[in-house]
Amino acid sequence: MADLDDIRDGKEYGIGVEQKPDGFFLKGSNNLDWGMKDRLSRIFNPATGKTVMLAFDHGFIMGPTSGVERIDLSIVPLIEYADCLMCARGVLRTLVPPTSRKPICLRSDAGTSILTELNHNVVIDIQDAVKLNASAIAVMVSIGDPSTEAETVANLYGAVDAGQVAGIPVMGVTAVGKDMARDARYFGLASRICAENGANIVKTYYTEGFEKVVACCPVPIVIAGGKKLPELEALELAYMAIQSGAAGVDMGRNVFQSDKPQAMIQAVSAVVHKNMSPKDAFQMFNDL
Ligand code: R5P
Repeated sequence: MADLDDIRDGKEYGIGVEQKPDGFFLKGSNNLDWGMKDRLSRIFNPATGKTVMLAFDHGFIMGPTSGVERIDLSIVPLIEYADCLMCARGVLRTLVPPTSRKPICLRSDAGTSILTELNHNVVIDIQDAVKLNASAIAVMVSIGDPSTEAETVANLYGAVDAGQVAGIPVMGVTAVGKDMARDARYFGLASRICAENGANIVKTYYTEGFEKVVACCPVPIVIAGGKKLPELEALELAYMAIQSGAAGVDMGRNVFQSDKPQAMIQAVSAVVHKNMSPKDAFQMFNDL
């Protein structure tokens, strides 16, 4: 208990100096509770409003695909350059050093793999996300797929309910089925459905007309990198997404499948946080 001797009357009331208004730097997030905002501020840099998430959850449906065979060798050296780590709990517990001091966006649904039919998933117990000190949980939603749309939207809905109780934001991840058009109309629709169902962040794919996808989504959007591209093209992709209003990237293969993954993630970060041009970022990649 504090010492009760010498209790002094307050005198620094700042009379005439208004308390700063309570605006929050991320769109659609001002009405969230303190814990949600705290976690979002760990994922998104408050100075830039952006994030570079390093995605290495691929193994949860693909197994040891190229670049994630040995997380300890390929991913751990990249951690220092990322703003946030996106992975599944098994890899997190076994291979990600808890001393990394990076926010975790925890892949929180699982079910079927690439060997069967994707997205017949269940969501992990929110208590495990709490135990892992997750800053967000990520749940896949497959809009337009007749066999999994309803259950994945229900997964998102349930995750948002649980996340609200725990103060953990939810990232809705738009899955693109083989038969879906990869255009702004589809990604706009899928992203909006995620946000309408309570997602605090949406992950989707860049496409032509992306500014419309961003404009009609009331929460921050990050883009997945997708399949491996030549480095300059991947940097152009990130640049166009940021210029169209994306709040960052959640990038995996274009980083960890690069010949110089440490250089690549730093170049991506310069595009995201410093608006560096793809040409300059590519030069940076080559110089590192
Ligand atoms: C897809 O849902 C996976 O969860 C990946 O995290 C995501 O696709 C981002 O990785 P990549 O940049 O390799 O596409």
